[in-house]
Amino acid sequence: MKQEADHHLEVLLTRDQIQARVTQLAEEITRDYSGAGELVLVAVLRGSVYFAVDLSRRLNLPFILDFIGISSYAGASPSRGIVRITKDLESNIVHKNVLLLEDIVDTGLTLNYLIQNLKTRNPSSLRVCAFLDMPARRIVNIPVDYYGFSLPDLYVVGYGLDYHERYRNLEVVAALKDPK
Ligand code: PRP
Repeated sequence: MKQEADHHLEVLLTRDQIQARVTQLAEEITRDYSGAGELVLVAVLRGSVYFAVDLSRRLNLPFILDFIGISSYAGASPSRGIVRITKDLESNIVHKNVLLLEDIVDTGLTLNYLIQNLKTRNPSSLRVCAFLDMPARRIVNIPVDYYGFSLPDLYVVGYGLDYHERYRNLEVVAALKDPK
């Protein structure tokens, strides 16, 4: 792929594969939540924004789109899973169905924290929809109710995922062969 001269990117998921799978996920979610009451989609900033836009456009349901910002680790060891909310929800989620949208579940530490935090606000349901699942890297076992693709342990970029803030805007998902 020619996007950047100094990294070798190997395409793992094409634009068409991604778009077809996101459409399937949206159909599944539409079926599952039809008539189920108010739905709040919570996109976790920042990587999930691309996925959240594509998925939400295809839902045939009323929903509120909201965002939560987190800062990973706050200087602590990554394995501790200490995350801090940097931007909270605008919505009150009490007695609402909440669907958390993530670009990737890697160790699971981020979602583990978010799930514990959001549960204290008494939503009527709380589920997770992740574009990518990387089960080989999991440290905390968290439920991923919907996922787009499962990938092996690789450094991946594109469709929201970055390498030092680059490559988020790729319409494909690619493995970065030589992170440096
Ligand atoms: C990434 C991703 C998830 C988290 C997953 O966010 O968007 O939020 O890491 O990793 P985990 O399962 O190991 O906790 P990142 O901190 O890179 O922020 P970004 O979305 O702003 O790039």
